[in-house]
Amino acid sequence: MPTFTGDEALSYDKRIGKLVPGYELLHHTTAAQLSVTLDQDATILVIGAGTGKDIIELAKHNAGWQFIAQDISADMLAIADQNFTNLGLSDRVTIHLGPIKDAIYQADAALCLLVLHFVSDNGDKAELLKQIGLNLRAGGQLFLADLMQPDTDFERAAQLHYCQKELGLTDAGAQTMRHQFQEAFYPISGARLHELTSLTGFCSPSLYFKALGFSAHAIAKGQ
Ligand SMILES: C[S@@+](CC[C@H](N)C(=O)[O-])C[C@H]1O[C@@H](n2cnc3c(N)ncnc32)[C@H](O)[C@@H]1O
Repeated sequence: MPTFTGDEALSYDKRIGKLVPGYELLHHTTAAQLSVTLDQDATILVIGAGTGKDIIELAKHNAGWQFIAQDISADMLAIADQNFTNLGLSDRVTIHLGPIKDAIYQADAALCLLVLHFVSDNGDKAELLKQIGLNLRAGGQLFLADLMQPDTDFERAAQLHYCQKELGLTDAGAQTMRHQFQEAFYPISGARLHELTSLTGFCSPSLYFKALGFSAHAIAKGQ
């Protein structure tokens, strides 16, 4: 997977919008659902918080929400931390560097946007989902977005075409992405997602976003 360190972390904010069709829409549609399901004083666990985009977007929707920004990359979280300081959000955010283990938090909702597709389906995806579940209250929603297995044999080509034509991805960038489709991602099918969520104590996923290869689901933790 990409390392999300050094220059990869520094260039992330410029790159990501060229790689994920509907990146802004994904964040906006996720925030809309949190806005109508959470109380004023909710705590939101953000897995793979990266440079802080998820939290910066959500913080605009409700001034009472608190956040846990978790990531395994110190460089991404350092950028996020600086962004939170610049925007006056630091007192609303707990930074968590490293894996979450056991039930440290009891969040009201969790986000895991564009993260799980980097985790191998050798038990590691199930383990991450299980850990998210342990840190989420019963009935709380997980919002999960990933590159999925393609629905057609032309979906990946169409995605690269879209990224180049509409989002300004360069030829070199498209070449890297084509390579990463094979080497860096562990996309799963919708059926496998249903299996994994059922195995880890979640209810059936409900699709709320799809743009070419990327899908997002709202998934309630079982009672
Ligand atoms: C593509 S970025 C997404 C960042 C942010 N959610 C967004 O929407 O812009 C993926 C992030 O997931 C982090 N990551 C990768 N594997 C992870 C894991 N197993 N647990 C937590 N974070 C992980 C990376 O360090 C990186 O910051």
